Amino acid sequence: MARHKPAVRSLPFDTHPTALSAPLLVWFDAHHRKLPWRSNRDPYRIWVSEVMLQQTTVTAVIPFFERFLAAFPTIVALAAADEQRVLKLWEGLGYYRRARHLHAAARQLVASHPGELPNDPDVWHSLPGVGRYILGAVLSQAFDRALPIVEANSLRVLARLFGYRGDPREGEGKAWVWSAAESMLPQKRVGDFNQALMELGSLICTPTRPACEKCPLAAQCVAHSEGLQEKIPPPKRQPVITAVSEVGIVIRRGKQILLCRRPANAGRWQNMWEVPHAERIEGEELSVAAVRVAKELTGLTVKPGDEIIAIRHSVTRYRITLACVEATAAKGTFAPGFYTEAKWLTVAELADYPVSAPQRKLVNALVSARDG
Ligand code: ADE
Repeated sequence: MARHKPAVRSLPFDTHPTALSAPLLVWFDAHHRKLPWRSNRDPYRIWVSEVMLQQTTVTAVIPFFERFLAAFPTIVALAAADEQRVLKLWEGLGYYRRARHLHAAARQLVASHPGELPNDPDVWHSLPGVGRYILGAVLSQAFDRALPIVEANSLRVLARLFGYRGDPREGEGKAWVWSAAESMLPQKRVGDFNQALMELGSLICTPTRPACEKCPLAAQCVAHSEGLQEKIPPPKRQPVITAVSEVGIVIRRGKQILLCRRPANAGRWQNMWEVPHAERIEGEELSVAAVRVAKELTGLTVKPGDEIIAIRHSVTRYRITLACVEATAAKGTFAPGFYTEAKWLTVAELADYPVSAPQRKLVNALVSARDG
């Protein structure tokens, strides 16, 4: 467990911690949102919710959470599921590595700790996808373990409350913010306290125009007293955006379309399905690119047709324009290379396969074209 402890450092404030946690908990009891994962303290439900909430907003998560829990009500059900089904239920949430890790970790836990999810940080720490945040979030909420959490909302609250001037997302600042979170933990109701910090950041201590007049901690807040609440924390460093042009090919054979499966080591969208796509060479005509990419990725010789749709999407620092071209399979059979397997499917059958968000847009356009 020692691995999770930050180096001991002085508290970032002189006040007794309950001077902050007590009013925060009173506020939380009165104002927290009734969210589906707050209905009980089932560690499995809490875990699933926290994995989904990493990178995704509460509003976006709710329907995914409900659907996922209906499909896999227990960790045993999740462990027994096929990975494709897990990915399908995650489709649209993005960051699919989270789902794969959750699934692998569920299998590991069911094998090593049948019966109950353990109240043991060392066991959790050894699981795929469980870092300091998930560890603290699950064990504090499910078992009231005295473990801190830091995520985007609580990070902002803590930096403002203590008037931290550096960037709490990086280097020293990161260590500081975790130690600030730890130093504030109350003796009891640790899970509620952690959620209260996040809830305050989400509802009151917002990135712009925080509602300080409604904040239970305003009297103790350094940023508020100095009028710096909009300057702390400093804005995130924005990456330089690169534009990328891709071609996607909807290869038809009669009423069927070729859907290919990405490899397990694909980087992103591992084991998910897609119509073949790749970057265009600068200046390359769309139809020429379609023929080249189809050949390179599938072994098929295709006859290109019209452009169906252009889909714009972003992946990390890349702004991608995916121009999708229709084509007919003229010669050859699918040969695994980059793709591990492929299937010829009708448009209706495409619904059953886990695909990325831009590819789902393409599939929806194919459904509209078929129906329209
Ligand atoms: N963000 C991450 N975890 C959360 C939680 N439990 N409640 C609200 N927002 C969150």
